[in-house]
Amino acid sequence: MVDQVRIFPDFAVACGEEASDPLVLHDGSVVRVDQLAASGHLERQDEDLAAVAGLGVKLWRYGMPWRLAEPRPGEYDWTLWDRALEACKRHQLEPVIDLCHFGLPDHYAGFCEPSWVSGFVDYVAAFLARYPEPMLFTPVNEPMITAMCSGHLGIWNDRRSTRADYMTALAHVTLANLEALALIDADRAGWWIGAEGFGCHIAATPADEAAAAEARALEQLVWDLHFGVAPRAEVADVAELVDEAVLSRINMLAGKHERVVAGHDFYPVSVTLHGQRAEPLTIDERITTYEREARDWYARYRRPFWVAETSNLGLLVTDGTTWLERLTAAIDRLRADGLPVHGLCWYSRGDQVDWHTMLSVPIGEVTEVGLFDAARSPRPVASAYGGLAAERSDHNHPRFHLRPSTGWVNDPNGVVHRDGRTHVFFQYSRDPDWLIREWGHAVTIDLVHWEYLPIALSPTPGTADEWGVWSGSIVVDDVGTGHAFYSGLSAAPGPQPPMHAVSNSPVLAMWSKDIGGNPVVAGFPDGIGAHTMRDPSVRRTSSGWEMLVGAGLDGGVPAVLRYVSDDLHSWRFVDLFASGDRGVLNAKWTGSVWECPQAIAKGETTLLTVSLFDPVAHHDTAYMGVIHHALWVTGREGRAGFDPGECGVLDRGYFYAPQSLVLDGRVIMFGWIWEGRSEALQHRAGWSGMISLPREVTIDDRGRVQLAPIPELESLRGVHESVGPLHIPADAVITDVTRPADCAEIIVEFDFFTGCDEFGLIVFADADGQEHTRVGYSAITDSIVIERSAQQLAEGDVRPARLESDPVGATDRVTLHVFLDRSVIEVFANGRALTGRAYRSGPDRCAIGVYARGGPAALLSLALWHVAGGRLRD
Ligand code: FRU
Repeated sequence: MVDQVRIFPDFAVACGEEASDPLVLHDGSVVRVDQLAASGHLERQDEDLAAVAGLGVKLWRYGMPWRLAEPRPGEYDWTLWDRALEACKRHQLEPVIDLCHFGLPDHYAGFCEPSWVSGFVDYVAAFLARYPEPMLFTPVNEPMITAMCSGHLGIWNDRRSTRADYMTALAHVTLANLEALALIDADRAGWWIGAEGFGCHIAATPADEAAAAEARALEQLVWDLHFGVAPRAEVADVAELVDEAVLSRINMLAGKHERVVAGHDFYPVSVTLHGQRAEPLTIDERITTYEREARDWYARYRRPFWVAETSNLGLLVTDGTTWLERLTAAIDRLRADGLPVHGLCWYSRGDQVDWHTMLSVPIGEVTEVGLFDAARSPRPVASAYGGLAAERSDHNHPRFHLRPSTGWVNDPNGVVHRDGRTHVFFQYSRDPDWLIREWGHAVTIDLVHWEYLPIALSPTPGTADEWGVWSGSIVVDDVGTGHAFYSGLSAAPGPQPPMHAVSNSPVLAMWSKDIGGNPVVAGFPDGIGAHTMRDPSVRRTSSGWEMLVGAGLDGGVPAVLRYVSDDLHSWRFVDLFASGDRGVLNAKWTGSVWECPQAIAKGETTLLTVSLFDPVAHHDTAYMGVIHHALWVTGREGRAGFDPGECGVLDRGYFYAPQSLVLDGRVIMFGWIWEGRSEALQHRAGWSGMISLPREVTIDDRGRVQLAPIPELESLRGVHESVGPLHIPADAVITDVTRPADCAEIIVEFDFFTGCDEFGLIVFADADGQEHTRVGYSAITDSIVIERSAQQLAEGDVRPARLESDPVGATDRVTLHVFLDRSVIEVFANGRALTGRAYRSGPDRCAIGVYARGGPAALLSLALWHVAGGRLRD
């Protein structure tokens, strides 16, 4: 898919300036619509282009009206185009040149008259002669819509409305476009970047099917003509209605142009319901319809495409962000299924005028569809769009892990289930220095696809959280009120004290801290020598509520403090629930402060998780000099606190601060995946950190924790490929065992008894396998391995090039369950997990292979699923 398009981005996040200029009849006279004049864009060109470029948009659909560039036949005035292309250069916007946008120069009668076609060809030739640089062209914008409005609906230019007029106008715009493409082809290796109305037709009842099919055939005739596909039966009369010479010239040129990204202009209004039905069309139904129609379109025309125009047109302006998210998710699903869809274009930069009536009643009524409003203020969708642009232009930015497009993410907080939804709040920073932590908020119904809600909790000046709302937890009481407990950061010395906020919203939004008594615990408890304390974790007990808080004690001992409450408001310190010097923990390195503690009782056994913070020990492998890894501890709870039985490291990779929820008896854990590169590089990328995939935690009969990806993740699976059995010769690397993938789930099984030291997958590889990461199993250490010595390690990576898990206890066969997400690798085998980071040097580093070391290996089977994005799903 990626190969076919070299100049056009793999995933464009583009924008355009609206410049339609058809003629319409208004109040008895013919008037020229002038959308460029209505927006005042030409007067504010620099400011407008700067605003678009400021969002991170790089591709820009742009055209100056033909009628102004050719005021008299054959006489060209390039002033506007010169200015426009210079402005594009200045703002580093790659223009997609739009040469005819619904209007004709005054010296042509209309689209049904053939003379304009040769005039257009001359204009294109003159344009190419003057401007050698542009490579991307939409010679005629929306040819079908042009013909439809001028020749069928009778509202623009020619204002005709017979079937013959429609087909004649359609043939002329198609011919003009094809002639222009032939000229471009002869002149340079230019591209046709299409833009065409993409009507989707639904039948309300079976009786309405024929009407829907007729409408589809009429609209898609434009593609038949362009690509040389025999028109459908419903429109076969085109052969009689259109001039033979025109048709035969079209047939000569059709389908010849190879560098094509066809354009689907798909808006909420693009979906038409044929027949009567009580329920209105929902957003999801519109999106699902597009997905289905786009698949059918691709099956018929087999050309790469993109959504060349979209906006909230037909919805409320406040639905813009939701529409964008849903459409992006649909495009991702199509991509995961192997369709060559190359992104989207929000149309347009600013608000438009009179599009409610398809420009037919030019009264200057604003159509609110812009990223920026008529006063040039950015709408919320502009910031979402900027985020999307940032995310999609960065080949290391994850696609299906939970994180917003930009900014800093660390610990999952307040992981809780309520009313059919699971909420994950997370430490988030959107301030430019990434210092101030807030609680970001995402919600899911399936644990896999996430919807992002507004920031839930932010610092309040002059209070104990004025510098940051740090980590914590949420419980829901018997009347359904959500109670958040979090650590407050302020200038005050002492602990980061537990703070309390409440929410009565069904989606746990709109939190209030104004409940009296904050912080709920003021200082350190007396007599235990605590110097650090943060991260309250509240749970229900048989007699009330209990709050565990992470701590560091004098003498370098990490601990968990226990408080109790009857009413969630007043809290009393009870004891040290756990500490690093007790039982089995005493023999282990446990750091000097425990952050983010959580205890979950499972029958007789309690699972405690803590994250090890230590400013000195193991300094060389600590993230930010203090962050090491998380421990699981299983044991029993009694009156004297927690008695640890077994313990181990949860994940020796880039995984920290886990928090779990109990859902239908399952313990489901989320953690923070941190970066393997310096802060400077993170800032340059504009993002840092993410939340891990949900892992199911079970405890085996020896009291040891087992981790596995939850089965719900299967809903991310797209196109499937399978390989094997395969013999891998000693010390061999075999690349390209499947199609390339940088977002994938892979389950690979190896036979153990081949005398091989190590075997596994090659991922994130370039074509000849020079650059790659190994994801395998070492028979020598019985561990999962992620080895990045053939992938350049980023500056500031604190983990060694070779990561190894704790022993997995494999005996005969080894199954590696791997998730790849652009720069993240999560691997599971036999209940152990290992998280890796690898920053690929380019987007094409995505070949998949297998390897063996120190002997031959026997791959029994390999299953790979290409994965779509993890944004909200319908
Ligand atoms: C763990 C942690 C917590 C703290 C939060 C601040 O990663 O250090 O102890 O509350 O991050 O973001």
